[in-house]
Amino acid sequence: MSDAKRLAAEKAIEYVEPGSIIGVGTGSTVAWFIDALGRMEDRIKGAVSSSDQSSELLRAAGIDVYDLNATGPLSLYVDGADECDPHKRLIKGGGAALTREKIIAEASARFICIVDPSKQVDVLGKFPLPVEVIPMARSLVAREILAMTRAQPVWRQDANERGVVTDNGNLILDIHGLAITDPLALESAINQIPGVVAVGLFARRAADVVIVGGEPLRIL
Ligand code: A5P
Repeated sequence: MSDAKRLAAEKAIEYVEPGSIIGVGTGSTVAWFIDALGRMEDRIKGAVSSSDQSSELLRAAGIDVYDLNATGPLSLYVDGADECDPHKRLIKGGGAALTREKIIAEASARFICIVDPSKQVDVLGKFPLPVEVIPMARSLVAREILAMTRAQPVWRQDANERGVVTDNGNLILDIHGLAITDPLALESAINQIPGVVAVGLFARRAADVVIVGGEPLRIL
């Protein structure tokens, strides 16, 4: 799949305006995009990054990282996804960066999503839906999600079986076994639970363009 990811990422470079400050997401597909950004002849001014991991990659590629509070609205945001439906609604957060990704997507006039074909689904939910929660609310949010959806929230662990901690100091619950027929309603309902920081459903702010890498490359 890495070839398909690379092809999608390189196509996204065509949407980047030299001299601009753009939003940059997180993940292996975005890593290809940052690599291509670093090789652009007419450089961008800089980037707003959605994670510490991407900030590091951006700086290594010689790209300045800006605070969103200093830039104001952005013209472009480029990021990957874990699932994408035919309406360009997404599940994101497999890399635990969903909250900052949501903030930058909201701040950007255009959101271009770069994926390989395995990310395309008819109905979102096979990929466990990530929810970032304030640590003290973990059990409360899990109980409320179970009551609301009948699907199982699982506290995300790292390789050493310790709870994953996000760049914002919070925890992740992954909701397994969903078939999300109304993404907008579910996004809004989960957002209402006290202690939820963000849910990895991008329905209210879906992608504007989805580039599916591979042969042939497709633009939706
Ligand atoms: C990061 O939190 C996610 O939203 C990523 O965008 C998503 O996991 C895609 O990752 P890959 O590009 O590595 O598949």
